[in-house]
Amino acid sequence: SFQSFFTSFGFNLPKDEEQVGMKDQIVIKFSHVVAENTPKGLAANRFAQLVDEYTDHRVKIEVYPNQSLYSDQEEIEALQENKVQMIAPTASKITSISKKWMLLDLPYVFPTDAALQEALNGEVGEELLKQLNSIDIEGLAFWSNNYKQITSSKPVRHPSDFAGKHFRIMPSAVLESQFKQFGASTSVLEFNETFKSLEIKETDSQENTISNIYSKKLYEVQKYLTISDHGYLGYVVMINEQFWNKLPLDIQQQIQQAMDDTTKWLWIKSNELNQEQLREIQQKSNIDIYTLSEEEKKEWMDEMTVIYPEFESTIGTELMTKMEKIRE
Ligand code: LMR
Repeated sequence: SFQSFFTSFGFNLPKDEEQVGMKDQIVIKFSHVVAENTPKGLAANRFAQLVDEYTDHRVKIEVYPNQSLYSDQEEIEALQENKVQMIAPTASKITSISKKWMLLDLPYVFPTDAALQEALNGEVGEELLKQLNSIDIEGLAFWSNNYKQITSSKPVRHPSDFAGKHFRIMPSAVLESQFKQFGASTSVLEFNETFKSLEIKETDSQENTISNIYSKKLYEVQKYLTISDHGYLGYVVMINEQFWNKLPLDIQQQIQQAMDDTTKWLWIKSNELNQEQLREIQQKSNIDIYTLSEEEKKEWMDEMTVIYPEFESTIGTELMTKMEKIRE
């Protein structure tokens, strides 16, 4: 056999290939756009390890970080065409093809971590995941990154300071409205175009988690950082639906277990990582960091949530009402 041919020449085949044989192994390509030292990057690698362990090497998750296969604008189509089997885009990036997901982009929609967990782990999350089946996608989990902060070339202490600024945003009607409401213009750009765009001053501001600001060095091309926690940035981990349905039941269960264990771990890890990387930004850069006081945050909340009614009919009254109850 192929294996004995190689081993007879003293080659050591990797352990997984020894045990399962290459042709029996199921390979799942998992593509994402962020760096490895981020909540999503770490979770993807941990998930791959757990799947290897739980399936006893029968399934291999190949992780492709930093958009080495597909950009955020390409990856959803690549998933639907089964060119990759798994991706984990930000919820914002599926709002154009599954509109109810706009819910998660509403500013200050999760006033506390408890509200966030209750929504995603309960009926709201379930309903959102179900929506994906109509676009050939199986949603496996919600992975958390953190809340978004504002970076800019000028100080932003109040939503009215958005006026005249040009924000790089993710593709989402809610995010566009959130900034337009206060007189800012927006450009939808790929994640990995953000640094360049700010550097050449095509845009002058953006919103993101600390982890994304840190790992892509956006603090080098921005002067001001406002800790506003004004929006949530999280991921939905997706697998091609047909591919998923064809997997043997025991494999599906092992993969789901690896996913659940990774997700639980990430709830804590993502907070820790964002805090740690904020300290690093403070130490290694000159960016001016301003943290909103509780009163200021309340003021931002009152002003920014005025865009909710605009999206009520798209998101649907049922989901909006469920979310309102959680917010109380
Ligand atoms: C962004 O585009 O800013 C983020 O969605 C990147 C990511 O995947 O965290």
